[in-house]
Amino acid sequence: EQIEKGGFPHFMLKEIHEQSETIADCMRGRLVVEDNKIVLGGISAVTDRLVNARRLIIAACGTSWHAGLVGEYLIESLAKMSVEVEYASEFRYRDPLITEEDVMLVISQSGETADTLAAVREARSKGALVLGICNVVGSTIARETDAGIYTHAGPEIGVASTKAFTAQVTVLAMMAILLGQRRAKLDEKESASIIKAMSEIPAKVAEIMTKFDEVDAIARLFAYAPNFLYLGRSYNFPVALEGALKLKEISYIHAEGYPAAEMKHGPIALIDELMPVVVLAAADHTNDKMISNIEEVRARKGRVIAITTDNNQDVQRLSEFSITVPETHDLLTPLLTVIPLQILSYQIAVYRKCNVDQPRNLAKSVTVE
Ligand code: G6P
Repeated sequence: EQIEKGGFPHFMLKEIHEQSETIADCMRGRLVVEDNKIVLGGISAVTDRLVNARRLIIAACGTSWHAGLVGEYLIESLAKMSVEVEYASEFRYRDPLITEEDVMLVISQSGETADTLAAVREARSKGALVLGICNVVGSTIARETDAGIYTHAGPEIGVASTKAFTAQVTVLAMMAILLGQRRAKLDEKESASIIKAMSEIPAKVAEIMTKFDEVDAIARLFAYAPNFLYLGRSYNFPVALEGALKLKEISYIHAEGYPAAEMKHGPIALIDELMPVVVLAAADHTNDKMISNIEEVRARKGRVIAITTDNNQDVQRLSEFSITVPETHDLLTPLLTVIPLQILSYQIAVYRKCNVDQPRNLAKSVTVE
């Protein structure tokens, strides 16, 4: 096992470190920068049906569901296609309105999650085309879907998902570009700029890893906080959810992820000098509003930990702590902002002496409904 961990104390840390490589592996042969083209062989036979679908329903659980939410922003924005994201379990408990004109996309690292598999069966029984994004080759969901795209992230052993998430978002970004091009919603210049930005992501992820000690200093300071709040807007809202989930899963700290605008409808009542608030604030169209959120937290003496971009001086100046990530195409920001959050929860769990790779009560793959 020590050899499999490749010199790291935990699989999770190894997997966090692997991400610049796994994202590159996921894009290899698929992202063709010189031709401004995306090649997704696994879905080529059904791409026409996907392009013409009435709507896309994404179903998943846990971290994969968060990747699906990022996918919703990507696909709606780049391909102007209507997307709904469902918890795979809840999808079944309603009498889902899904027809032959719809396409369902399920996302599952393991390809074995019972609720997600049940959603696949339900959608197929109603005549929808069902596609999968899976990591484990030959898994049940990979076999039962009509077509799909593998994430190629390699085996993920830590129960808390890290590299599978970034690979899922990478696949969704490639799908969004492909759909945008095929639906004529994305002009050549815009698609070239996002394809180029994607090709630069692995190097940017590697750059973030050099900030490990900066994140560690924050982890050390807040390791014994009883609660955490995570706030984000737009495509960084799912990242807030994912950051909170990571912390809950492995450190057993109560954490909530919220769309930042909802803070005033409840969570603001919790903020005092003991509350760390992680704010995801890229220098994008949400920046002014995020700055007011930071001011509101500070006015209540909350401890602001900002995950922001290198160029976002305003947020860095206003926040008690900040970790910066390199700038990229706005829509790709989640691939970068999630990395410090993974490191933060990992280091906090280590300080709290938690069993990082096998947290209590959790399983890597949940095969019961
Ligand atoms: C479990 C794991 C999570 C994972 C979720 C969905 O809860 O602990 O890390 O995100 O299942 O798993 P899947 O394999 O379908 O992505």
